[in-house]
Amino acid sequence: MEKLARVGITLPVKLLNRFDDEITAYANRSDAIRHLMRDYLVERQWEGNETVVGTITLVYDHHQTEQHGSLTDFQHRAGEMILSTLHIHLNRDLCLETIVIRGQASKVLQLSEQLIASRGVVHGRLSATTLGDWAA
Ligand code: NI
Repeated sequence: MEKLARVGITLPVKLLNRFDDEITAYANRSDAIRHLMRDYLVERQWEGNETVVGTITLVYDHHQTEQHGSLTDFQHRAGEMILSTLHIHLNRDLCLETIVIRGQASKVLQLSEQLIASRGVVHGRLSATTLGDWAA
C-alpha cells in the first residue's frame, strides 16, 4: 500500500473557510489538497520542459484542411510523438479529432500551436497532463 504522511499546516481561517466552501466536489479536504498539489506539479513539469503527455482536440472543416494539407503534414512530421488519434465526422463539413501526444513539453506545445493555428481549424485546445511517475 502507498506510504502516507500526515502534515499540519497553519492557515488564515478566512482562507480555509473559503477553500472548504469551494471543494464540495471532493470527498474531503485531503483529497482536494492532493489534487491541487498534483495540478501544480504538472504545471511545473510543463514549465520545466520535461517529458509530458497531452491531448489536442481540434474541430475543423475537412474541405479546407485537405486543400492546405498542413494538419496531416504537421502530424506526419511529429512522428513518434503521436500515440493515437480519434476522428469523428461531426457533419457534412466538420470533423472532430483528438490527438494523444507524448514528448518534451516545448515540442508538444509547438505542435499543438501549429495544429490549432492551421487553416480550416475552427477551434482547438490542448489538455496538458503528466506521465505521473511521482503521483501515486
Ligand atoms: Ni471527418
